[in-house]
Amino acid sequence: MNSGTGCVTSRDLEFTVPQMHAMANDVVARCIAHIAALPQQPPHGVHDAEALCRRLREPLPAAGTALTPLLDDLFERCIPQSFNTASPGYLAYIPGGGLFPAALADFIADTTNRYTGIWQAAPALVQLEANALEWLREWMGFPTGTRGLFTTGGSMATFNAVLCARERHLGPDIRRGVLYTSDQAHHCVIKSAKLAGIMPDRVRAVACDDAFRLPVPALREAIARDRRDGLVPFMVVSNAGTTNTGAVDPLAAIADVCADESLWHHVDGAYGAFFQLCDDTRDVLAGLERADSLTLDPHKGMFMPYGTGALLVRDGAALRAAHEATADYLPEMPSAAEFYDPSQHGPDLSRGFPGLRMWLTMKLYGADAFRAAITEKRALALEAVARMARLPHVVIDAPPALSLFPFHLTWPGATLAQEDAATRALMAATSRRGRVMISGAVAGGRYVGRVCVLSFRTHARQIDQLVEDLGAAIDEVVAGVRG
Ligand SMILES: Cc1ncc(COP(=O)(O)O)c(C=O)c1O
Repeated sequence: MNSGTGCVTSRDLEFTVPQMHAMANDVVARCIAHIAALPQQPPHGVHDAEALCRRLREPLPAAGTALTPLLDDLFERCIPQSFNTASPGYLAYIPGGGLFPAALADFIADTTNRYTGIWQAAPALVQLEANALEWLREWMGFPTGTRGLFTTGGSMATFNAVLCARERHLGPDIRRGVLYTSDQAHHCVIKSAKLAGIMPDRVRAVACDDAFRLPVPALREAIARDRRDGLVPFMVVSNAGTTNTGAVDPLAAIADVCADESLWHHVDGAYGAFFQLCDDTRDVLAGLERADSLTLDPHKGMFMPYGTGALLVRDGAALRAAHEATADYLPEMPSAAEFYDPSQHGPDLSRGFPGLRMWLTMKLYGADAFRAAITEKRALALEAVARMARLPHVVIDAPPALSLFPFHLTWPGATLAQEDAATRALMAATSRRGRVMISGAVAGGRYVGRVCVLSFRTHARQIDQLVEDLGAAIDEVVAGVRG
């Protein structure tokens, strides 16, 4: 048996029951203390990262170490040196969160270690995963017959969508196929296309309009041009919330184009799809429910821990056709119409159990809690934009379509380069104050700051802090750049 300190010394790699209790208690106590202290922790904790990483390099350990010093290192040295994506003040990039029950689900999944790659190995557990996918389908307004897949994130969901579209529309003739999106699309679109065999010269990033949206006339022109050139348009990827500015493409009009042109319409809802739950934003997202496939990122809009992405495909048979395969050593497949088999709907065979974190969390909170939380994020973004618009030198580049909006600084006589420098400096100055973190992007030919409200821990207090800290930093930043 192994030593009481959690140090592994025996060959069977097993711990006694009291040892497991002691180890788990130590871990749980630290995790809960970490969560309790989040409001006091800065949203941006990375300092002198290169030196730290160099110090952390280490040889392969021949012998084991006790758990306690390993946890000390993790919690004291490594975890604080991060963007604190779980912090209430994290308004940067697309915030995460990390609902606690999902961690418990992972603990259960990892300790019981059931095999959920194939239905027969754990039919009841796979059914719970199928239930969770079904609830997502219902939320998004997709029809029955839709099938889905839990993935590690939005990128892998998008990759699987491109595979489905390619199989449906191109078959073996991949090289002539063309995919359309906007120049505001997340870079996972071009990456997914490449992984699926669609090279960058067959991806058209149509220039966005003044509102950072995919312009439908330009999309139609690009498709017609490619057809004239003997190419085969097969897919449009539109955005339900871009990462740079939060813009939502005209999803219904793009769905019409795809219907007219017989193209696969994929909607990237990694950031925005869960705003379907909010009455105030459902109109903006109209047309999403007509998509052939939809990327969802529960680790964004459902506040789940990272590693929780999802794909819905309207024609479940298309998802299955892209992945179906079996082997002589595997049991016979269940009825495809009735039972969900993860390995027949995605690339993985052996896998973790992503469905449990979704199922347990959704059951524990209930749908209304998610609806209320996402509605609050929308209201907070509206509050933030209204108050920021009243700050000196602030220009709002686009109002929040959902809960993300871009802005920049200006003053009479400012050049674009000065505006960019001041806006960039403001991001850093605000984050340095240690209460909120915001990040920027280049969009519409300029550097913009971005506020994205999506953490379940962000409430009115953090919006107050955002406005106060921006207000306190703006004059100094502008004076510094003006000279
Ligand atoms: C709009 C959008 N699409 C796709 C992705 C990629 O998702 P993931 O990081 O989960 O792979 C992101 C990530 O931020 C995103 O914001």
